[in-house]
Amino acid sequence: MRKNIVAGNWKMNMDYEQGISLFSEIVNMVKDEVIGNQEVVVCSPFIHLAAISKLSSGTGNVSIGAQTINEHESGAYTGEISASQVKSTGAAYVILGHSERRAYFNETDELLAEKVNAALKHDLKPIFCIGETKDERESGSYFDIIKTQLSKGLFHLDAEAFKNVVLAYEPVWAIGTGLTATPEQAQEVHAFIRKTLAEQYGQEIADNTSILYGGSANPSNAQSLFSQPDIDGGLIGGASLKSRDFLQIINVFNA
Ligand code: 13P
Repeated sequence: MRKNIVAGNWKMNMDYEQGISLFSEIVNMVKDEVIGNQEVVVCSPFIHLAAISKLSSGTGNVSIGAQTINEHESGAYTGEISASQVKSTGAAYVILGHSERRAYFNETDELLAEKVNAALKHDLKPIFCIGETKDERESGSYFDIIKTQLSKGLFHLDAEAFKNVVLAYEPVWAIGTGLTATPEQAQEVHAFIRKTLAEQYGQEIADNTSILYGGSANPSNAQSLFSQPDIDGGLIGGASLKSRDFLQIINVFNA
């Protein structure tokens, strides 16, 4: 059956020392206070990856991820970071398709499909984000938007490759706004995503895919969100920057 996953997205926060100390706190708390099978992932800025990967080795259930990669293999792309470079730090995951990358860095569905291929080629698991804007929710077109994001970004993959993908439903209107989707709103979309996956890849693969919720998740609302049948954990922004809040969210699965 599918895994429960709580992933932190630090975004562009934490200088080097702050990141090391936050990660050390998280690893120690997870070691001492988490008993369960849920996987914990920390997606830090590139500057922390190699160091936190060393800190996490041997701890078992804290994995590391990046927040984007470049789609090319290597070469003259000044300032960019490739999938193989991220992989060489010890990272296991990469967030792709985050709405901030789509909106501020013009990442299209077509480009994201290339990034997904680059990640999988180098054995990095994409945490692939999809979600509608406020206007798209209000106009009722959100199912179409989500289906398009899935099909253009991911459905070129064959079933074997798709098994390595984690999905995150992040309604854009809920990110960093304090406006969380209600558990019912989130469940409705998660169930739709799973149904769409079943149509493409069959029910077994759909049932085995982890679908995370992201958007103003915090220690107070995580329980009601994660208890929905199709919500398998969270992609946490702001609350992942405080080790105690992040731990409380992780421990929802032990409650
Ligand atoms: P917040 O939890 O800060 O709303 O961010 C969610 C997010 O974008 C995670 O990727």
